Amino acid sequence: MIWLILVTLLDKSSSSIWFKDYFLIPPATCGLIPPGHLHPFGYHKQPLEQMDVIPNAISADEFDKIYIQPEGHRPGIFRGLQKQSKATLYWDDKYLKENFGEYKVLTEIKHELRQEFGKRLNTLSKFLEEYNTTNQYVVTVLPDEMRREVLMPSFLQCGTYSHNLLELNLWMGSGDTASQVHYDADHNVHCLIAGKKSFFMIHPDQYKKLYMERLEHTGSNYCPDINQNKVDMLEDSSVADVDYQWDVLHPGDCIFIPAQYSHQVRSYGRSISVTILWDPTVQFDTDSMGDCEPNNTSSIADHNVVWNYKLEDIFLDVGYATPHVMRKEMVGVWEQWKEKISDLEGYDSTGWTYCQFVSLMFDMKRWSLPECKNNCSTQEIGLPSLLMVWIQIRISTYPQRSYLTHLIC
Ligand SMILES: *[C@@H]1O[C@H](CO)[C@@H](O)[C@H](O)[C@H]1NC(C)=O
Ligand SMILES: *[C@@H]1O[C@H](CO)[C@@H](O)[C@H](O)[C@H]1NC(C)=O
Ligand SMILES: *[C@@H]1O[C@H](CO)[C@@H](O)[C@H](O)[C@H]1NC(C)=O
Ligand SMILES: *[C@@H]1O[C@H](CO)[C@@H](O)[C@H](O)[C@H]1NC(C)=O
Repeated sequence: MIWLILVTLLDKSSSSIWFKDYFLIPPATCGLIPPGHLHPFGYHKQPLEQMDVIPNAISADEFDKIYIQPEGHRPGIFRGLQKQSKATLYWDDKYLKENFGEYKVLTEIKHELRQEFGKRLNTLSKFLEEYNTTNQYVVTVLPDEMRREVLMPSFLQCGTYSHNLLELNLWMGSGDTASQVHYDADHNVHCLIAGKKSFFMIHPDQYKKLYMERLEHTGSNYCPDINQNKVDMLEDSSVADVDYQWDVLHPGDCIFIPAQYSHQVRSYGRSISVTILWDPTVQFDTDSMGDCEPNNTSSIADHNVVWNYKLEDIFLDVGYATPHVMRKEMVGVWEQWKEKISDLEGYDSTGWTYCQFVSLMFDMKRWSLPECKNNCSTQEIGLPSLLMVWIQIRISTYPQRSYLTHLIC
């Protein structure tokens, strides 16, 4: 489930007007020039009604009923959910450097041209020295140690969704960024720890006007032709009719961004966010609540998340596959290779089960099958994406592996 992380520099002249006003006033236009032409996305129209403010203590089943069940889902804001978290209280640059500076983080460069973005590995410490002057921003798996300082929303502590938490990400930058209009594969609670960010939220029934499709299978998508900083309303005339909701997050606020719900995000000045992603493919089971009581001081480190990141880990990335997808792909490879598996060099694998095969995948150093002379490339094995997953699992730490084995078997 590849995540689209496409950020460009914001047109500064317009951002300052925008930021000061805090709400949108479409600029006056003359004659045939449509409103918002060559202005940032959102200037074409006033936003729809405000998004719901969701009670911070909402239960998991109530959340499911109101925000996940409706067609196209429903976004909403949690005001001050992280306000008392250590993250919101303490994460200035000095504290981050002293406590977590050694962690490697993935950074990207903000570009004028959206096609040119590449990832780099840096230490958090080095990033903090450079980020004000180099246009880098961090988008990386949140180190486990930092997880102790971020609260887990109550509705993600109990029931089905709490058992299907996938990934936690850290975002940090010096600001003035504007993402493209896009959607992601997973359900996401995006919590702002520092700074200010605004969110434009676009219901799937508007996607045609954005020349965008809802891709059920690949999970994420974006509008390749629309320049979010200067929308060409003459060229892309239907954008003038796109309805959206809009709000600003302040430190401690979170927003629920449903899977496949389009959004455009702008940041102003130094900002830090933590995002909590969970699997949108599982159905909420009301019996799954049991006698679970959410605890409003419980951190995200107190809960099982598929992907972890410890200081000694050498591999990190964002946008991992969900266990369900991995399982499906692994079963596919198993079907393809089970007859030949007894030929694997050094393994007495006669009569093996699928789960033993999964364990084998975790343990093998190199795939060896007769077809490719005991030294197979990823393509020769079968599904390249599966192999990527396999590599990620194999070099990751043991607790994560056992949790994954449990989910995949
Ligand atoms: C970068 O900017 C932030 C404020 O936006 C400031 O607190 C920090 O000290 C700056 N870092 C450096 C290395 O100049
Ligand atoms: C947790 O809940 C208690 C009781 O409802 C409340 O007094 C307290 O302020 C809450 N703490 C946080 C961090 O929200
Ligand atoms: C809430 O969670 C914290 C952190 O996990 C724990 O120390 C505390 O005992 C819990 N409180 C209750 C009432 O369960
Ligand atoms: C396996 O193949 C790769 C390239 O395909 C090569 O670099 C490597 O040396 C080979 N290893 C062995 C043990 O033959």
